[in-house]
Amino acid sequence: MKKIVVLTGAGISAESGLKTFRDSDGLWEGYDVQKVATPEAWQQNPQLVQDFYNMRRRDALAAKPNAAHYALAELEQQYNVTIITQNIDDLHERAGSTNVMHLHGVITRSQSSLNPALTYPIEGWELKMEAMCELGSQLRAHVVWFGEDVPMIIPAARECQQADLFILVGSSLAVYPAAGLVNYVHYNVPKYIIDPKIPDINRIKNLIKIADKASVGVPALVRQLLTGVPR
Ligand code: APR
Repeated sequence: MKKIVVLTGAGISAESGLKTFRDSDGLWEGYDVQKVATPEAWQQNPQLVQDFYNMRRRDALAAKPNAAHYALAELEQQYNVTIITQNIDDLHERAGSTNVMHLHGVITRSQSSLNPALTYPIEGWELKMEAMCELGSQLRAHVVWFGEDVPMIIPAARECQQADLFILVGSSLAVYPAAGLVNYVHYNVPKYIIDPKIPDINRIKNLIKIADKASVGVPALVRQLLTGVPR
């Protein structure tokens, strides 16, 4: 079975109603990311950070997968598919994808403040300030903040090295190390990019650019890959 690796970013969830990052002046839902998505922010104002991620969790739980998420799940009928997502929502899983790597964590889980490897499911949208991990430290959202390690990057790079086909959907490729993953894909491998604003990676060989919204471009490409009929 051919192996397809898909790297997704905020753009794939935009049509599910979840905002992207860099389409809105560097603000995330009106917040300066430095004030809510860094270890320093957590030290200085844990209540603000907890409230912020509780709101993001509420939004993510209320959102529904769109046609792009569902189409990627269908690819598993004929391909060995790995989704590597930078998104903290769980829309790929809810659409039926079974092999999803969350590079930046997932909002539906909490994480120990002492040991990031200790993570737990969260019931509902609210992570309470008094919730503790088994080591007695405060639980925070299981997300990778700016300035923190990205432990999933090594397995993700390995997946990219083994890809027979690569698809990038809805990422500006502005944030490393995720943005460097495409460099691990063999230069002979076809690399589809689906984004209304294609990021500038012309140095990469074998690019096929599809300047469409995810809900249009992804189902069309998936149909082509499943039926052999060109888009
Ligand atoms: N369909 C496809 N792509 C879209 C759509 C859509 N409907 N709407 C917007 N886009 C594209 C934009 O053109 C842009 O290229 O999605 C991309 C979103 O880019 P960013 O906002 O930078 O999101 P992303 O690349 O996922 O950010 C990476 O940055 O802040 C961090 O940790 C956060 O995981 C995030 C990382």
